Amino acid sequence: MNISGKRIVITGGSSGIGFELARQLGGKGARLLLTGRRPNVLAAAVDRLKADGFEAHGVSGDVTVPAARAHLLEHSIKLLGGVDMLVNNAGGVRAGRLEDTTEAELRAMIEVDLLSPILLTRDFLPELRRSGDGLIVNIASGIAQMGIPFYSGYAAAKGGLARFGEALRRELKGEGVHVVTVFPGATDTPMMATTKADASMGFALQPVADVVASIVDGIEADAFEVVRGGPARAALLDLNRTDPAAVDARFLALKPGLESAVRDHSAL
Ligand SMILES: NC(=O)c1ccc[n+]([C@@H]2O[C@H](COP(=O)([O-])OP(=O)(O)OC[C@H]3O[C@@H](n4cnc5c(N)ncnc54)[C@H](OP(=O)(O)O)[C@@H]3O)[C@@H](O)[C@H]2O)c1
Repeated sequence: MNISGKRIVITGGSSGIGFELARQLGGKGARLLLTGRRPNVLAAAVDRLKADGFEAHGVSGDVTVPAARAHLLEHSIKLLGGVDMLVNNAGGVRAGRLEDTTEAELRAMIEVDLLSPILLTRDFLPELRRSGDGLIVNIASGIAQMGIPFYSGYAAAKGGLARFGEALRRELKGEGVHVVTVFPGATDTPMMATTKADASMGFALQPVADVVASIVDGIEADAFEVVRGGPARAALLDLNRTDPAAVDARFLALKPGLESAVRDHSAL
């Protein structure tokens, strides 16, 4: 896709990966509309983008709330005149043992990481079809490709999002709307502020600018997937397919340290 002039809606565009994506897409001439729940954080993000000379709008709201999703669609059409790209980026996580995770926390992850992207995509599809060069970008997670202990609820939601995107890409093939799924590894954003997991546990934080540069490359190349981590990650995913017991054994050794490192990891 040629990004210049494209009308792009980014959920969770006020922080982290979403904000950096807005910045890099703005640099390529995109017209931007961002959403997030905290109006002050959103307004500051929009102001920074405008100061860089980009067209940026903010519509605050919670994507898990039906009226807020309707409001977002209505204002996207009003402010941008239509939509060429929807980035389903808003997300949340709560780590910890499944028995220690509340029903409310599990529902919150399924709502923001899986159900809201599905519903927003459904509601934005008429606009994306009208574009003639429509794109849906789903920000999943490396955990969608390989389950990690103490992230079972998050893995369920992000794994579901990845498979949703694959099925929808095939459903829309030849109809002017493409779908790309992104699988970031641990990325240095506010979402990771409450985890103590480190590189020795497989959580080396990647700079957000590098992660987003890969996403932009994938968008421009009409990729199906954006996978981070290079050959080492590819080898681990391969091992997980061919010898999952070997991966289980690695995690068995890591479990005690990992459990205490991620016990407080919460960003919902
Ligand atoms: N950081 C990582 O290591 C990593 C790795 C893999 C995948 N991801 C995924 O990447 C995406 C972005 O995460 P990030 O690391 O950039 O996190 P972040 O810095 O915490 O940003 C999350 C953004 O989503 C917004 N948001 C959260 N819940 C929302 C809701 N219900 N409605 C509307 N907006 C909402 C937040 O704004 P408000 O709080 O104001 O609503 C914020 O703008 C997420 O889907 C995450 O799961 C992150």
